Amino acid sequence: MANPDLIHSTVAQVAKSEAVVWDGSKYYDDAEAWTWLFWSEEHDFFKYFRQLDIKNLLELACGHGRHGEYVLSHYGDRVDRLVMLDILQSNVDFCLQRIGPRKNLEIRCNSGVGFQPVADGSLTAIFCYDAMVHFHHEVVKSYLNDTQRVLVPGGMALFHHSNYSLKPDSPFGANPHARAYMSASLFEQYVKEAGLVVMEQKSFSWGDIPDLDCLSLIKKPASTSK
Ligand SMILES: C[S@@+](CC[C@H](N)C(=O)[O-])C[C@H]1O[C@@H](n2cnc3c(N)ncnc32)[C@H](O)[C@@H]1O
Repeated sequence: MANPDLIHSTVAQVAKSEAVVWDGSKYYDDAEAWTWLFWSEEHDFFKYFRQLDIKNLLELACGHGRHGEYVLSHYGDRVDRLVMLDILQSNVDFCLQRIGPRKNLEIRCNSGVGFQPVADGSLTAIFCYDAMVHFHHEVVKSYLNDTQRVLVPGGMALFHHSNYSLKPDSPFGANPHARAYMSASLFEQYVKEAGLVVMEQKSFSWGDIPDLDCLSLIKKPASTSK
């Protein structure tokens, strides 16, 4: 039988090796011009985000902190605690300069496969924009399992992920808009295996490619045996 610790450390190595491309990338400056898209009344990002209880909120893969900063400046009165995680220390340092420190804010480097050191059952909501679309599917699976651990019963997570399922073995950088192999149905399967439930799921175009991306709003059931 496969050793779960070995699988976990192998997936963590994949996450670390794939994240290297983001260190010092020009992406961060370019992306600032598009932040409005995630927070526009017109788009499903915001439609779903509004459904989250953001009292104890975590942002996964925060990059240079454009979304965390937006949340604090627009909805800070509803947030008791915001945790911002990124696999790269350089991004944590950037965010600390940009936003922190503040008393209700933790900005941390994480393993790339889970939310440690966040405590079990301590978050009302998680969101991740424009990052999981690039994650290896085993990394996504690992985060979904850990989502089950860190959410309070009834807590929800909003994940922007890839819906590109044409080439399972192709490295993400070789795919359109660097989307990793994933599909709405595979994501839903991982959600169910983690003991979570998909509340809403919607594919949408990115660039000029129809249905390249997907938004999944998922929930930890109010009572769970897992
Ligand atoms: C395209 S950037 C998006 C940053 C931010 N979400 C935004 O919208 O501006 C991708 C981010 O994912 C982070 N990242 C990559 N792999 C990761 C992983 N396995 N776990 C956590 N963060 C990761 C990178 O360091 C980078 O900050």
